[in-house]
Amino acid sequence: MVFHVLLQLLLLTTALATSIGKPGCTDRCGHVAIPYPFGIGDDPNCVVEGLQINCNTSFNPPRPFLGNFEVLEIYLEGQIRIAGLMVWDCYSELGPRRNESQFNSTWIRNGSGKKFTSLEGSFYTFSDTRNSFTAIGCDTIAYIGGGDNTTDFTTGCASICPTSDWLNNGSCSGVGCCQAPVPKGRQFFEFSLQSFSYSNRTRHLGLCSYAFIVDKDSFHFSTKLLSVQNFTDEVTKKYPMVLDWVVGKERCEEARNSSTYSCGLKSICRDSNSGGYRCYCHPGLDGNAYLPDGCLEVDDCDPNPCKRGDCKNKKDESGYICICPEGKHGDYGIDGYGCIANVFPTIQVVIGVCVSLLFLLVSSSWLYWGMKKRRLIKLKEKFFQQNGGMLLQQRISTNENVTETAKIFTEEELRRATDNYDQSRIIGRGGSGTVYKGILSDHRIVAIKKSRVADGIQIDQFINEISILLQINHRNVVKLLGCCLETQVPLLVYEFVSNGTLSHHVHDEGYISSISWENRLRIAAEAASALAYLHSAASFPIIHRDVKSTNILLDENYTAKVSDFGASKLVPLDYTQITTLVQGTLGYLDPEYFQTSQLTEKSDVYSFGVVLLELLTGEKPVSTKRSEEGINLSMYFISSMKENRLFQILEKRIVDEGGREQLYAVANIAERCLRMRGAERPTMREVVAELDQLRRPDVHPWVALNLEESKYLLDEPSGRYNSSQGDAKDSLKGQNILLESDIGW
Ligand SMILES: *[C@@H]1O[C@H](CO)[C@@H](O)[C@H](O)[C@H]1NC(C)=O
Repeated sequence: MVFHVLLQLLLLTTALATSIGKPGCTDRCGHVAIPYPFGIGDDPNCVVEGLQINCNTSFNPPRPFLGNFEVLEIYLEGQIRIAGLMVWDCYSELGPRRNESQFNSTWIRNGSGKKFTSLEGSFYTFSDTRNSFTAIGCDTIAYIGGGDNTTDFTTGCASICPTSDWLNNGSCSGVGCCQAPVPKGRQFFEFSLQSFSYSNRTRHLGLCSYAFIVDKDSFHFSTKLLSVQNFTDEVTKKYPMVLDWVVGKERCEEARNSSTYSCGLKSICRDSNSGGYRCYCHPGLDGNAYLPDGCLEVDDCDPNPCKRGDCKNKKDESGYICICPEGKHGDYGIDGYGCIANVFPTIQVVIGVCVSLLFLLVSSSWLYWGMKKRRLIKLKEKFFQQNGGMLLQQRISTNENVTETAKIFTEEELRRATDNYDQSRIIGRGGSGTVYKGILSDHRIVAIKKSRVADGIQIDQFINEISILLQINHRNVVKLLGCCLETQVPLLVYEFVSNGTLSHHVHDEGYISSISWENRLRIAAEAASALAYLHSAASFPIIHRDVKSTNILLDENYTAKVSDFGASKLVPLDYTQITTLVQGTLGYLDPEYFQTSQLTEKSDVYSFGVVLLELLTGEKPVSTKRSEEGINLSMYFISSMKENRLFQILEKRIVDEGGREQLYAVANIAERCLRMRGAERPTMREVVAELDQLRRPDVHPWVALNLEESKYLLDEPSGRYNSSQGDAKDSLKGQNILLESDIGW
């Protein structure tokens, strides 16, 4: 018996050994298995071109390397785990600012041989599904960017530690640790770290910031990570990242006819999206699909898993069937208990049982559907109550400020309006939810927002917000028309704005400089007046919290409409500041709010300053295309102002069209909006006054007259300044305009 088991073990290990590498080739480097198509050395019989692994034998045991990265594990499913890559930045004990020697930035792209030369041209890409860009620190903004001219991107995340109470093991959501997704199919990245303050405030919690791309599954945040100060290779190895690999550059069809085709017998070739292919064993087989005879039948019946009776291995798929022992039949069930002794059954009994079963089935399903329908109605009622339907109805009926259009929609109505929430109706996806284009039964076009969170505890507050938003009536704020409370997540119905986002018009390819300086100034003044209204004119001050160019929509006359109050906070009148977990968008974040978590109206002023910069420069708020200090547009702008280089960073069209003094004046407003201390920033009301002053034609009346005229010639003359607000018929004109899918409502 013992001998038998030993023999089996021996057979098993030899079978495994043969399924890793080709005969005569080294398939191991130290502790790491190197399965074919990977290999050590250059022998084309032992390794597929491009998948060579370098085994460094100066270590004991030897260690495998890919470029300068240590290889930790190779998966035949198409991934490889390698030791991580990190940027770090520590405070000096000598002073509050970093100096060069404390800042070590590794740029994958221009590694200058220091770390890893780019993956470009190789068969590897950074895995978007397995990795996250992660940063750790208490005063940390981490950027990740890269790309060529067509696919440039920059993203990132920010992390703070207001006090040690906020820190949480296992949670990486902006306190001590933050994460951003890694884009798909990339072959290089650049990353960089910045601090808002280099301040003393949270120094006791951690001296260093660091950022890396890491295998999501193997990373768990612990507060201990904040105290890491020594960034050796051994530390970076703890943050492995995952690369996807493919074979070759060709698709399966072409590869099959070539001499380098790498899939073995009984295997399936699948194209990879980014070029190249991978091999998989036929279903039911297992092994290394890249070896000529690597795919082996797996005998799932060995050892026999069936407690009583015989086992039958499923052919060409995994799994097995247990067969009842002789003299019994039936469903084997658990351990063969379902097998019953063979008795000759009378036909009548069988028919009788069948008929009554059928009857039972029909009547019970009829009952079931009836009950289900009732339950659904009950559920809708429950959600309605839970979402504060009564409360809202009461508010609407007792408040004459709410316009007549405000309305509680039924679920059915909105489902029909959006074609059952069809994918093609999605016009925006953002942090706070998904926005659909809907056509109501009276042919009005609306935007329907499905929010992401439904936090039961805050329903009162939510209702409060809705009833206040319903009262907002400003021509430059996207109007909330009503809501639906019958679903688990309340749906909000907004007026439809047809012409996309400001960001789209200022930044996107093909739209470059599509808006004149005159119009930009007007858009800025309109957005500013909307914010000023929210801050002061509404019955409760409202802080928008996420002012950005993707949240400023333009209608067919290029009139600005501020949207997305998903993150907004209503401020009780007796508080001037409230403490909250930092929310907002990288590049627009108020540094003071970031450091103190104290929210005031001045945070919106800061973000508005960044929007002004976008209008002036045509640049994105964050971009790794600028120099390292200039990744953040506001810092780039401030330093350019200091060096008297304002006119070099303005967009060309703006310099051509705007008067020198006017441009200086607007840049000056932006500069004051971007002051570090909120108290030094102007209020939105002051900004509006100054922008209006600039637009007023008191310098050269005749020039202004001409401009006014040409503006009317350019734009549609119909009612630009009178009745577009609240008049839903206006947005009907947008029916024929195709919306881009990236609109970020
Ligand atoms: C997190 O876990 C570490 C141990 O791994 C412990 O020392 C630390 O106090 C924990 N922090 C919190 C906030 O629970």
